[in-house]
Amino acid sequence: MKMAIECSDLTKRFGSLLAVDHISLSVPQGAIFGFLGPNGSGKSTTIRMLCGVLTPTSGSGRVLGYDLVTQAEAIKQRIGYMSQKFSLYTDLTVGENLDFYAGIYGLSGAAARKRKGELLAMAELTGREKQLAGTLSGGWKQRLALACALLHEPELLVLDEPTAGVDPVSRRIFWEIIRGLAKEGITVLVSTHYMDEAETCDYIGFIFFGKLMGCGTPAELKKASGHATLDDVFIEYVKEGQSQGRGVIAYAGKK
Ligand SMILES: Nc1ncnc2c1ncn2[C@@H]1O[C@H](COP(=O)(O)OP(=O)(O)OP(=O)(O)O)[C@@H](O)[C@H]1O
Ligand SMILES: [Mg+2]
Repeated sequence: MKMAIECSDLTKRFGSLLAVDHISLSVPQGAIFGFLGPNGSGKSTTIRMLCGVLTPTSGSGRVLGYDLVTQAEAIKQRIGYMSQKFSLYTDLTVGENLDFYAGIYGLSGAAARKRKGELLAMAELTGREKQLAGTLSGGWKQRLALACALLHEPELLVLDEPTAGVDPVSRRIFWEIIRGLAKEGITVLVSTHYMDEAETCDYIGFIFFGKLMGCGTPAELKKASGHATLDDVFIEYVKEGQSQGRGVIAYAGKK
């Protein structure tokens, strides 16, 4: 099995805070890997290191065959990234947003027009090219942001909480698109707080304040813990993490 992501003992320290604590994982090509964990647990920090935008404090890894530290530029060029904040220009139209990102990725002419047409169809935005992005509903905005992230045909799609604040019907359409992309061989790394989305991932990793408490298929994690639902599995990880002294200060501060 060809691995799209492999990392070993990945660690990130911000001053005295150990935000990511020796995380090791592997994601096969074409798989959907979901990161779960409470706010501030290190999901985004791990994702940023795997995208080549944040240098690890220690540890090593390869993404799409490239070294995380020495070949970060090659990784950045081959991934599509979409964050919760949907990096769209709200005062540009749907078509103009796609043209803008096509320009960034160096696409032009007939190739750009063809790709734009394909992605408008995928995102069910055909006919809305002239609508201002700022006037789209949350679900449409999300699919436009996804289309922008896919213009350069990335091998790895990285989605950091892509469905936060999006209605259930739009979430379902979005996940159908994601599954279709994975079937085409695109690897997907996604963080989410939704258990229904976690269930649908091929593999999930649960991070609790820097530490990867469990990793495997949803069925494997449920079997290993003896719980029927992922909710219960994760509650057990939280208890285990807290018994190790993790997250206690963070929670105490928020009460
Ligand atoms: N650039 C930074 N400098 C200092 N601390 C940081 C930096 N980036 C993240 N952190 C801290 O690292 C920890 C992990 O943050 P991170 O954003 O990775 O968590 P997360 O799991 O993505 O949380 P959320 O669910 O809220 O998005 C947090 O305590 C955060 O405040
Ligand atoms: Mg985050």
